[in-house]
Amino acid sequence: DWKPENFVAAQVESIRREIGAGRALCALSGGVDSAVAAALVYRAIGDRLTCLFVDHGFLRKGEREEVMHTFQKRLGVPLVLVNAADRFLRAIQGVVDPEEKRRRIGHEFIRVFEEEARRLGPFEFLVQGTIYPDVVESGATPGAPTAVIKTHHNVGGLPPDLRFRLVEPLRSLFKDEVRAVGRELGLSETIVTRHPFPGPGLAIRVLGEVTEEKLAILREADAIFLEEIRKAGLYEVIWQAFAVLVNSRSVAVMGDERRYGYTVALRAVTSEDGMTADYFRFSWDFLERVGHRITREVPNVSRVVYDITSKPPATIEWE
Ligand code: XMP
Repeated sequence: DWKPENFVAAQVESIRREIGAGRALCALSGGVDSAVAAALVYRAIGDRLTCLFVDHGFLRKGEREEVMHTFQKRLGVPLVLVNAADRFLRAIQGVVDPEEKRRRIGHEFIRVFEEEARRLGPFEFLVQGTIYPDVVESGATPGAPTAVIKTHHNVGGLPPDLRFRLVEPLRSLFKDEVRAVGRELGLSETIVTRHPFPGPGLAIRVLGEVTEEKLAILREADAIFLEEIRKAGLYEVIWQAFAVLVNSRSVAVMGDERRYGYTVALRAVTSEDGMTADYFRFSWDFLERVGHRITREVPNVSRVVYDITSKPPATIEWE
């Protein structure tokens, strides 16, 4: 009979044995897996763990503050924040192809990671939040920061002074078990129940070229959608919900003025593992409320549409 407290106790023992007097580095993504892995290793080795949180500028509204708060204030884990928004935006300037965006963001991530690992190190160990579905590949999330480091690491791409030994304490766990372990370790419900979020973040939810203006619009629209979902008690029924900034404008009438504004698409799906997904059946009242708030509260948005395709044929993300 699997119990989170037993798992934590056993892992703390084995992590201590494995790491000994060494030092470990962990890159946080803001997602539940890396957060739980970090909290677990912190329980085992304390300050000999350094957590790195790279803000690539494609995070959702309030996300950075939330991660900082949980780790520094609530758990007391030392956290190094790298504000790299300018670098990442520059790296994908003018890029419209989704795979090219992912490639460049992944590449930039590795560069930032290497710089910080050198500056803060030496570290002998790298903590990763790999979970069982990642191991068997089915739920693997290509392009996730951790997956990127891992791939890079496995192909021997990291320079010799940065060849870490991997610590992956969650390798045998499914998502719901990871969540139970997170609660046991005192992580907040907001982090523990968090929807999956792609490594490249909002950069693949602004369709086409990404600009600061578009990111700001998307961030606000997305926050309103999620706020209404939480208020309606639907957050935990839904696998993922988010707004997408469509790259074609549409006309709006404001008073007697016709304006050319942005179109926001809303996406919400239920799923077991992300491999297949069903679009979520909101009530008309709910959709109307969200649409109304977004067009009223977010400048330059003139139209809101709801995505009613399931996967297959559509993927969960638009890019
Ligand atoms: P799709 O869009 O392929 O998404 O149906 C399946 C799941 O994978 C996530 N996803 C990503 N995660 N880097 C990530 O870390 C990516 O480049 C990426 N693309 C898609 C998506 O959010 C969903 O959970």
